[in-house]
Amino acid sequence: MEHSSSWDIRAERPSFPALNATIDADVAVIGGGIAGVMTAYQLAKAGKRVALLEKGKIADGETGWTTAFVTCVTDASLTELTRTFGAAGAKLAWASGQLAIDEIERIIAAEHIDCDFVRRSAYIYAPDTEGLATLHREYELASSYGFPVAMKDAPLGFSTTGYIEVPNQATFHPVKFVTELAKRAEKLGVQIFEQTEATGCTGPEGIVETKNGKVRAETVILATHIPYNDPDDISSRITAYQSYVIEATIPKGVLKEAIYWDTNKPYHYFRVDGFADHDRLILGGEDHKTGQGEDSAVHTKNLETFLKELLPGVSYTIVRTWSGQILETIDGLPYIGDTFFHKHHLMATGFSGNGMTFGVLSGLINRDHILGKTTEMSKLYSPRRLKGLKGYMERGANFVSQWMKGKMNRDTVTLESVNPGEGAIVDIDGKKVAIYKSPSGHVVKLSPVCTHLGCTVQWNTEGKTWDCPCHGSRFKKEGGVLNGPATKPLEKI
Ligand code: FES
Repeated sequence: MEHSSSWDIRAERPSFPALNATIDADVAVIGGGIAGVMTAYQLAKAGKRVALLEKGKIADGETGWTTAFVTCVTDASLTELTRTFGAAGAKLAWASGQLAIDEIERIIAAEHIDCDFVRRSAYIYAPDTEGLATLHREYELASSYGFPVAMKDAPLGFSTTGYIEVPNQATFHPVKFVTELAKRAEKLGVQIFEQTEATGCTGPEGIVETKNGKVRAETVILATHIPYNDPDDISSRITAYQSYVIEATIPKGVLKEAIYWDTNKPYHYFRVDGFADHDRLILGGEDHKTGQGEDSAVHTKNLETFLKELLPGVSYTIVRTWSGQILETIDGLPYIGDTFFHKHHLMATGFSGNGMTFGVLSGLINRDHILGKTTEMSKLYSPRRLKGLKGYMERGANFVSQWMKGKMNRDTVTLESVNPGEGAIVDIDGKKVAIYKSPSGHVVKLSPVCTHLGCTVQWNTEGKTWDCPCHGSRFKKEGGVLNGPATKPLEKI
């Protein structure tokens, strides 16, 4: 069984050079995932000079570790969105997701992109009577807002008490889409640089610094999962979750080709894609706050148990497992647009479980912002909004408790007990050290203190990373930053 996502096609990916000069652009986009590439493409179409900087490879970050549901159905329920944003806001949240799906389809057709895009229904199903009551409330709201949903109190090819069908959603291959879109963007004049990490943004003009060059731009767009320089202390309004995924082959026709969620908390989600002699089931769930879960093998095992109960008696083969990180905001919608304190910076973050649709939407909203257009969407998603105070307080309390827990916890293991290829917090001469032992036995010793605000990192056995329980920073096994808000690697010992 592999640890890789279904979209891991590195050998086929295009390559772009690293930046090694000072260049000028109208807009510098930082981050080469779906949000960054879509934004660069849209701006180039609008006639802007764009430079796109990616610290690794295009689509190599969370875009490559998604399950690629393309849907308007938000993680926050319509009931929750209506409570926070009113009926008009909740309706616009779903409508803008639908707009993003249409935009993906339009671009695929216009640019002749082969990326397995398929329109299909999404099913939100209830496994029990409590979930069914929730579904009925959601159905009433969705219908009253004019969405063409259908509701049935019936099984769905497996044990359910009822389901809502949302038509005209989609699935695709996210890495094919984003890498092909990057090539189209380059043809439109976007200067794309890989292996080019932004190390700072200075000056009122928006100068982006990298190790070997600079971009002088009027506007900087932060499309790096979580904005790497944490403008407006945005990390205090976001919680990072780890989500686990297994891919299995199942017999043809057992489940309808579609995308599915249940009403559990945390919920399970899966998509079924047809192939010539089998179907592919990609199943995810077991979400927990980053750095606060059990051993990741436990979560993967729990997903397999769920699969067995979903399809009793059906034979399957698990071919790969992986995990990814999602970011939830304190009010349930992403932050897209301008920041409070950095006049020339725009951001796109907090996409929750809708990275594909909100990534595309962020390209439209931030393009319009740069073109001077204010829309109802830009107001709804503005990072300047002040909503979700309760969630803000909860995140503050989580930070304090996790910080304390990390300092007080004396649970360490001995160096000898760490298996090759694994990591652990080890006590060396009374000091806690984050140890990674390579498969050949080479030992990397790091400080376990997160370089963001000092919490203690935890080893992630599935992703082979050091994860911070406070704001979700993730570090490579050798200490380099994988996900912010931390910007500096773990200190080597
Ligand atoms: Fe904030 Fe680690 S991510 S302390």
